[in-house]
Amino acid sequence: MKREQFSSSLGFILAAAGSAVGIGNLVAFPVMASKNGGAAFLVMYAFFVFFICLPVMLAEMSLGRHTRQNPLGAYTEIGQNRAWRTVGWLSVITPFMIGVFYLVITVWIAGYLGKAVFGQLDQLADPAGFGNFITSNELFGYLAFVVVLTFLILQGGVKKGIEKATTVLMPTLFVMLIALVIYVLTLENAMLGVKFFLIPDFTKLTGEVLNGALAQAFFSLSLAMGILITYGSYIQKHDNIVSAGKTVAGLSLMVACCSGLLILPAVFSFNPEIEISELSTSSIGMIFMFLPKIFLALQTDIGYFGASFVAAFFFLLVFFAAMTSLVSIIEVPVASVMDGKGISRRKALYILGSVMVALGIVSALSFGRVDWLSNMLHYGGADKSFFDLIYDMFYETILPLNGLLLCLFVIYRWKKQNFDAEISDGNQRFAGSFLQKYVNFSLGTFIPLILAIIFINTVSTIYFGKNLLF
Ligand code: PHE
Repeated sequence: MKREQFSSSLGFILAAAGSAVGIGNLVAFPVMASKNGGAAFLVMYAFFVFFICLPVMLAEMSLGRHTRQNPLGAYTEIGQNRAWRTVGWLSVITPFMIGVFYLVITVWIAGYLGKAVFGQLDQLADPAGFGNFITSNELFGYLAFVVVLTFLILQGGVKKGIEKATTVLMPTLFVMLIALVIYVLTLENAMLGVKFFLIPDFTKLTGEVLNGALAQAFFSLSLAMGILITYGSYIQKHDNIVSAGKTVAGLSLMVACCSGLLILPAVFSFNPEIEISELSTSSIGMIFMFLPKIFLALQTDIGYFGASFVAAFFFLLVFFAAMTSLVSIIEVPVASVMDGKGISRRKALYILGSVMVALGIVSALSFGRVDWLSNMLHYGGADKSFFDLIYDMFYETILPLNGLLLCLFVIYRWKKQNFDAEISDGNQRFAGSFLQKYVNFSLGTFIPLILAIIFINTVSTIYFGKNLLF
């Protein structure tokens, strides 16, 4: 069977940007930046994006385009041994499991969107609102909605599904984001928030902050999840990988900055006296508990209906961002099963979809509804639920490990010259450029080293309660 392809470079860029732009950029980044040095953090983050993440991104995209395979197929074909095949498995199981965790969050967002639309903003702003919602039966209705929507997009395939959805959703998302930023900046005290977001404080850039920033940049660009290998396998030969990679990284960064100009001004207009340390560190707390309060507070100016409208608009924006990320992560196991077993897309979706929904339901029940799922294990000094387990194991631990193995694989197993040749196809200027030297050198040396350090420290911190670095 001929492999499907994106219809153009732009189609690929929007799909990859759709994957990259998610809850991470929209919520986690602004909070992290304002707590950790404002513009100083921003500069650091941008540095990480272009000097550490971009080379990894180029490696994934080239590997995909060269092999025209899903990650398991790519590692198997070039690796030629069992060990690399195992790494291939890891790069398929990881997105599958992170997909479960992302599915749960996307369902929550869909729920918040639904509730804002149906006039229940007051329930969301209630301190018990989030807890009530995630343990309610309503949740399963939203789960069904998200699953069906994801199925419909993925069932359409690369061109008519993924590309079509992202070429509609991404530009809409950009316009909505800009509209919201403009609106929020007109609110009273908004400038206090802008100030907080942008005033640089270099003393805040501790080792721990840098570690967090790098992890955030890595996750935010959808690296080490096999996504860019898979999407890369749908790029046309002669497309310029370098400029596509730079554009995706730039778009993701831009969205992150814009959402800083949205979230922080909103927070300060709600409460100009707020101490930045009061802001929740988790994006979950921010998006599901804090922001609804801000939206509800708008009712004094624009009425309940107006406030609900703004809330719905915001959650729709986040929902679009989450959907395009969810689709990208599920496409990885789907492509692997299709390629590996030679079965149809629809069949692969049915099989993987049912396992994923089952695990999604189990995770959804692990927030206090079913006791043994909510307190499944105890390690690193804390009780962990099933959801925590997935998060710790796959997101925190295996992600840096996958990144590290990918760098070593591309440079030492696939070999620099083959990697360079693949990138050069579509970019004549790459050979002999500074970029080429930098990418080859960094991927073979300090990037895997940094990821190895992060990996070891994470294992020690999470499972043994002992942070080796900070
Ligand atoms: N880039 C996404 C974000 O910032 C993360 C992600 C990508 C999650 C792909 C799942 C799948 O939220």
